[in-house]
Amino acid sequence: MAVRRLAAEQPESFEFTEKNLAWANKLIDRYPAGRQASAVIPLLWRAQEQNDGWVSEPSIRYIAELLDMPNIRVLEVATFYTMFQLQPVGKKAHIQVCGTTPCQLRGSEDLIKICKSRIANHMHEISEDGMFSWEEVECLGACVNAPMVQIYKDTYEDLTPESFESLLDDIEAGNEVTPGPQNGRRFAMAEGGLTSLNELDDDTKGVLPLPHVVDGAEKASHEFAGAAINTGGNDYDGVPTPAEDAVAKVRAEFAAKAEKKAENPAPAAAEKKAEAPAPKTEQPKTSPAKKKGTAAAKPKEVAAETPAVEEQAPETLDGPRGGKADDLKKLKGVGPKLEATLHELGFYHFDQVANWGPAEVAWVDSRLKFKGRIERDGWIEQAKTLAAGEDTEFSKRVEAGEVASSKSEE
Ligand code: FES
Repeated sequence: MAVRRLAAEQPESFEFTEKNLAWANKLIDRYPAGRQASAVIPLLWRAQEQNDGWVSEPSIRYIAELLDMPNIRVLEVATFYTMFQLQPVGKKAHIQVCGTTPCQLRGSEDLIKICKSRIANHMHEISEDGMFSWEEVECLGACVNAPMVQIYKDTYEDLTPESFESLLDDIEAGNEVTPGPQNGRRFAMAEGGLTSLNELDDDTKGVLPLPHVVDGAEKASHEFAGAAINTGGNDYDGVPTPAEDAVAKVRAEFAAKAEKKAENPAPAAAEKKAEAPAPKTEQPKTSPAKKKGTAAAKPKEVAAETPAVEEQAPETLDGPRGGKADDLKKLKGVGPKLEATLHELGFYHFDQVANWGPAEVAWVDSRLKFKGRIERDGWIEQAKTLAAGEDTEFSKRVEAGEVASSKSEE
């Protein structure tokens, strides 16, 4: 890894915007008196976002003063973590390619070759058009999906030279890109499907502990051009990222199963007792048989849980009535990109959304990138309120400017 030094050319000064300062003070207040130094990483991150993606020397001094820390301690943090850039980066993306052993064995050198040919020959050199820069970094903790790169705060995994090239093409063209595995794999699950824990529906297994999802309140809006990358979920205003979306879906599935189980505990237990032979039957042969029974029962259960709703196209408009569309961004989960998609589909007004039934929701859902969000974010209920001329908690926040409209999705 390269030596991490501050850039030779530095701006004269740095200070947080009013909004960022208010956010910083709120964050610092969370720590006990005398422990405010604990806020150093989020504050450096916010400074980086405000400063076009890199941490300047004046920003390090500014944060040291804000946290009542010696400059050197903030400098140590900024120079230690590769999440902090110490010199200007490409406007659209700074690509961090993991070059540690697992990624190297799985092809990271090819990704680096692509960076060299498409961006610049040397690390930290900005491409001629000023849009990209790159560097090789040490393990970024996604080894199981190697090789991978990190761009801003998202990781793109299971890359091949082809998928990496097309990722760069999309970023260059301003297209929306989806973080995570790029080969269709779900999280870090086995590529060929489940190889273990495949008896989850068995009553004896209980409900799996689920991954922790960072509370949206922990997050805060950013200023930097992560927006230029358009990750479609890469914001901080309490709107979930695609990964959080996926986790929420898994959680919902497990919760539904747990609820179902709670509703019918007796028959399951009785069945089990009835099935159980005399106490001595310990032969391992019973397992495969039982396994088969469970596997056979599974598809039925899944089918019962997810009844297909037939899609029906809702009524659409060629343009907004009276030439003025409602601000659909007042619906929680709808940002500018999603609003544009809704316009393309022919939806401009709250009352249109309010009138969707399950079949219409299924139709719209199948045309959105992240399925299930209409129901999850409660668009219909929100739209009914807004169509009646009333406000929702979220629309009040949008109007008060607390939710940056450009960052309220997705
Ligand atoms: S080795 Fe590349 S993410 Fe760990």
